Amino acid sequence: MSMSKVDWKSNDQLAIGKGATVQEFMATVGMDKLAIDVAPWGEGHLRVNGREVAHLKDAKDRRQAFRELKKVAEHYLQTKTASFEKTGNSVKLPAVKAKLLEGKKGLIVGIANDQSIAWGCAKAFRALGAELAVTYLNDKAKKYVEPLAQALEAPIVMPLDVRAAGQMEAVFEKIASVWGKLDFLVHSIAFSPKEALQGRVVDVSREGFLTTLDVSCWTFIRMAHLAEPLMRKGGTLFTMTYYGSQMVVKNYNIMGVAKAALESAVRYLAAELGPKGIRVHAISPGPLATRAASGIPEFDALLDKAKAKAPARSLVSIDDVGVATAFLAHDAARLITGETLYIDGGYHIMD
Ligand SMILES: NC(=O)c1ccc[n+]([C@@H]2O[C@H](COP(=O)([O-])OP(=O)(O)OC[C@H]3O[C@@H](n4cnc5c(N)ncnc54)[C@H](O)[C@@H]3O)[C@@H](O)[C@H]2O)c1
Repeated sequence: MSMSKVDWKSNDQLAIGKGATVQEFMATVGMDKLAIDVAPWGEGHLRVNGREVAHLKDAKDRRQAFRELKKVAEHYLQTKTASFEKTGNSVKLPAVKAKLLEGKKGLIVGIANDQSIAWGCAKAFRALGAELAVTYLNDKAKKYVEPLAQALEAPIVMPLDVRAAGQMEAVFEKIASVWGKLDFLVHSIAFSPKEALQGRVVDVSREGFLTTLDVSCWTFIRMAHLAEPLMRKGGTLFTMTYYGSQMVVKNYNIMGVAKAALESAVRYLAAELGPKGIRVHAISPGPLATRAASGIPEFDALLDKAKAKAPARSLVSIDDVGVATAFLAHDAARLITGETLYIDGGYHIMD
């Protein structure tokens, strides 16, 4: 979608100039009605079909606010087009009336694209009113994550490669300075070098083992450590795991070992942080066709088996994972902790 096709018209209904404060511009692209309003002190909003997509507070003046918001609109339309081409969907957050997580602030780590489980979580948390900080792995990932962060209206968007010294600390420092607190954290990352992941556990090298456990397990422990001082009034920490921690799942290999360690870490962290009102959960979704999953051989067979065996006879979606995770962040779930919650259509209860 090229912005050269977007024809912004000033809204004559508003009194512009002479004493007017806010100026509004409208454009229609396909079915979408876009509106940008800008104030002389550099504040502005972008609305798409009446829903606020971006709120800019710190532009130099009205002209700069308009330019910035036009860029956000461009990203929005481009992402939407790309997403339509890929999946037939648009980047839309679910409309939820009850903002049950309003006032809560959370960090989402692990959005690679609009198929990521972390994105499913982010959508649900945001739709329920939470404010989000979002990270992206590196410059290559940035162009996929940025438009999603914009749709989430995330005020904090930062690079985070957990293997790069200091980046994890920098994210938490930023949260401390902008929000001064954190209510929840979603750790939705895992990594194993190909030789380690695709080989037998019995053959794994020390390096392959350490990298897998480092990225997929230790980083959750470290994030809990960094989050603790920001959760003075309690909070919830989430990580993503998989059934291959409990049972030998073909091709899951060393990642199964890492997830077993991760689930155990969840219980220890829950016990240690529970007295401070900090709850800790592992979320265990059924198989989902994400980028990380593409590193697992014969993944289609895993999907077919999941669908056939699960009592629900259905594969889960990232949205299913998102809403269940969001529920556990709500105060209503304050006495649930240390859980491994399966979101798998009941697969794990079957023989
Ligand atoms: N897809 C599934 O079937 C499935 C099922 C159960 C659990 N999980 C778990 O869900 C989590 C998210 O995976 P996904 O399936 O959404 O795939 P994904 O590829 O969308 O997400 C994986 C994320 O890990 C991040 N990551 C990898 N190395 C990193 C590093 N060094 N620093 C920072 N981030 C790094 C990637 O950037 C990416 O955002 C993982 O823990 C995965 O094991 C996935």
